[in-house]
Amino acid sequence: MDQWDLFALFVIALAILAYVKRETVKEICRQLFVIDNSFDLESDSRDVVQVLRENDKNYLVLYASQTGTAEDYAKKFAKELAAKFSLNVMCADLENYDCDNLNDLPDNVIVSFFISTYGEGDFPDGAAAFEDFTNSLDAGSLCNVRFTIFGLGNSTYEFFNGASKKCLKSLEGAGASLLGRSGEADDAMGTTDEDYLTWKEEILELLKDSLHLDEHEQEFVPSFKYQTLDSITDKVSLGEPSEHYVPGTLKTPHNAEGLQTGPFDLTYPYVAPIKNTKEMFTGKERNCIHSEFDISGSNMKYSTGDHLGVWPSNPDEKVEQFLKIFNLEPNTIFSLTPLDSTVKLPFPSPSTIGAAVRHYLEITGPISRQFFSSLIPFAPNSETRDRLTLLSKDKSAFHDQISSQYMNIADALEYLSQGSVPNWSSVPFNFIIESIPKLQPRYYSISSSASSEKHTIHITSVVENFPNPARPADGPHVVGVATNLLRNIQLAQNGVDVESSDLPVHYDLEGPRGLFSKYKLPVHVRRSTFRLPVNPSTPVIMIGPGTGVAPFRGFIRERVRFLETNTDNLKLGKHILFYGSRDTNDFLYKDEWPEYAKRLGDSFEMIVAHSRIPNQKKVYVQHKLAENSEKVLELINQGAFIYVCGDAKSMAHDVTQTLIKIISEGKGISESDASEAIKMLKTSGKFQEDVW
Ligand SMILES: Cc1cc2nc3c(=O)[nH]c(=O)nc-3n(C[C@H](O)[C@H](O)[C@H](O)COP(=O)(O)OP(=O)(O)OC[C@H]3O[C@@H](n4cnc5c(N)ncnc54)[C@H](O)[C@@H]3O)c2cc1C
Ligand SMILES: NC(=O)c1ccc[n+]([C@@H]2O[C@H](COP(=O)([O-])OP(=O)(O)OC[C@H]3O[C@@H](n4cnc5c(N)ncnc54)[C@H](OP(=O)(O)O)[C@@H]3O)[C@@H](O)[C@H]2O)c1
Ligand SMILES: Cc1cc2nc3c(=O)[nH]c(=O)nc-3n(C[C@H](O)[C@H](O)[C@H](O)COP(=O)(O)O)c2cc1C
Ligand SMILES: *[C@@H]1O[C@H](CO)[C@@H](O)[C@H](O)[C@H]1NC(C)=O
Ligand SMILES: *[C@@H]1O[C@H](CO)[C@@H](O)[C@H](O)[C@H]1NC(C)=O
Repeated sequence: MDQWDLFALFVIALAILAYVKRETVKEICRQLFVIDNSFDLESDSRDVVQVLRENDKNYLVLYASQTGTAEDYAKKFAKELAAKFSLNVMCADLENYDCDNLNDLPDNVIVSFFISTYGEGDFPDGAAAFEDFTNSLDAGSLCNVRFTIFGLGNSTYEFFNGASKKCLKSLEGAGASLLGRSGEADDAMGTTDEDYLTWKEEILELLKDSLHLDEHEQEFVPSFKYQTLDSITDKVSLGEPSEHYVPGTLKTPHNAEGLQTGPFDLTYPYVAPIKNTKEMFTGKERNCIHSEFDISGSNMKYSTGDHLGVWPSNPDEKVEQFLKIFNLEPNTIFSLTPLDSTVKLPFPSPSTIGAAVRHYLEITGPISRQFFSSLIPFAPNSETRDRLTLLSKDKSAFHDQISSQYMNIADALEYLSQGSVPNWSSVPFNFIIESIPKLQPRYYSISSSASSEKHTIHITSVVENFPNPARPADGPHVVGVATNLLRNIQLAQNGVDVESSDLPVHYDLEGPRGLFSKYKLPVHVRRSTFRLPVNPSTPVIMIGPGTGVAPFRGFIRERVRFLETNTDNLKLGKHILFYGSRDTNDFLYKDEWPEYAKRLGDSFEMIVAHSRIPNQKKVYVQHKLAENSEKVLELINQGAFIYVCGDAKSMAHDVTQTLIKIISEGKGISESDASEAIKMLKTSGKFQEDVW
């Protein structure tokens, strides 16, 4: 051993000492924090490779997600790698880390990306920094990186899986090597889950070979230490939407004027009083709720065309059903402690089982086949284990018996055990927490105008409530979580005794520690790019059937306000609105439009299509567009902005096709040239869509 070797050894020893010390310090901090019930236990570093090394991880899963789908699959993937191969997986949100040193990942550490797409093939909001990173890569700068990629998208959008495609191209351009094929989930086909499962099976085989992994029977590897506690203290969350509202922990910040200051986002909503609510439909079959949220107690701002995130909770009936099938005691208090600093708490801890089921977990949506397979180790007896195993392996049986029946988790477990066991108490609650997605806010296009209603946000929501097509017509309905909550609030606020009413579902409207009492709900504003032209004299064409009219009500109110305050005698351009509804019972804001027309005069025109008037032909907005093609063309020639809002599945597509026809015929060009013209309008922001 020469001098240099000795020196090297010395350096290594020092490094180990520093490292161990750091770990000790961190462990002490962690214990301190846990006693303090601090919500976040993030490592201070944003360097993903450093954090991976510090936590001795040997696999990296990174996700970019807007509404939790990509996050959910990333976590499932990570869990399965741990459960089957005992890999030490770090699973992280790209929002929280920098990837600049990705090329320094230890040998044999593979990185798996899960990326969903928004807008015009864009990355989710939180992944802006990652997108910049991928855009600025030099050739060869990621030559050590081996990766897999799974994109989440919906083929009804023009840029299908645009973000994951861009990511793949940039990574490969920088010399990283793709393992297997890039996966692309398609929501439009309703096959996201199956797309994932097929892709995952292939990738696991490849990983097994290339990392020489031994597969063993799947076992649940928790990411959190789960402990039950004795008594409720101030620090126990009873379902508060974020830790800011749990007494005795963080404070809700206020400014000198006493306004709650945020910033309000996906991690911290504002609990807004609901000032006014109204049923919009006059028919019996469907409901549509207009709700007005008062944001004057906060410094929250919005722009006309933004979205409001509404944080729902689960209905009593579904909570009870869920607790019963798992034999859970709602008053049990538990705490969760991340087992290492790469995992984040999904919700404030400590909490109670009842609060978690009601406020934090998505207990009613469709189930994934993957969930069934992860449940196998916990089946209450061999009979149900066999049925569970069978269904988890058989795509079409799963579809026929579970998905197409609109079953939620509790329905499915009842069906699986068919009375052979009283309940599924064999499933530990920490498995439930880690396997069921987080309850997500629902987004609504804001239907008020920021200039006329500065401190009030209006939304217009159609209530999801229809008979289960797979069941007898008088059986239980399929119900949406948030929209039925809004309906319950609307009825209660307008004097109906909802508790004893025969509504399909009922809610705890008081909320944790009375936080939502007198009609409040947690909300936050999400910025959109859906904006009126800056110059009010620019003509505007709006197409929004059904609830798609919501943002256009905001637009029109904005223009009314403009005229009221316009002192420069600026002339308003032509504003033409194509609206469609089934008949006159579901004609949204029917009484308001004539009022706006009076104020706006010639510059406003509304053209209405009804699709279900007895003995009349179905008329849709695009038929009306075609009928008015000359007018539409003339406005486009004058530089009109075009907006489409509402159903993305078929309406937005059909409307675009009609516009292409109008342009091609009117200008005497080919349809493919007209389609190019539309694309150019989109790129320049003159054609905007808000579709869902
Ligand atoms: C950008 C954006 C803007 C939007 N703007 C508006 C708007 O202005 N107005 C509006 O009304 N909506 C709007 N939406 C839709 C809205 O966000 C919600 O998706 C919608 O209101 C349903 O929410 P929910 O909680 O009531 O239903 P959820 O509980 O989320 O249920 C969704 C659907 O799944 C069905 N379902 C429930 N359980 C199951 C099961 N086990 N198996 C199969 N199916 C099941 C429900 O019946 C329902 O149809 C917008 C969405 C986006 C993304
Ligand atoms: N998943 C589903 O099955 C489903 C069904 C409805 C709505 N939705 C969702 O709910 C959102 C809002 O729905 P809503 O209740 O406000 O709408 P809605 O009241 O159901 O529809 C509004 C109007 O649009 C018409 N319409 C249907 N298909 C169309 C098309 N391809 N092009 C143009 N017009 C069309 C409807 O006609 P007809 O209904 O008479 O054909 C009706 O007149 C939609 O954006 C959609 O995402 C989903
Ligand atoms: C407002 C909106 C815009 C979307 N835009 C696109 C798109 O441009 N391309 C695409 O492939 N998918 C698009 N999608 C579909 C989502 O990417 C898909 O639903 C995905 O599963 C969501 O994943 P997340 O929950 O992780 O954000 C869009 C969805 C919504 C709600
Ligand atoms: C739930 O099941 C367990 C074991 O199968 C049983 O001991 C318990 O009594 C059951 N609880 C209820 C409420 O049925
Ligand atoms: C895919 O997009 C269409 C249009 O928005 C929508 O109707 C459908 O529900 C989406 N798929 C899913 C599963 O969200």
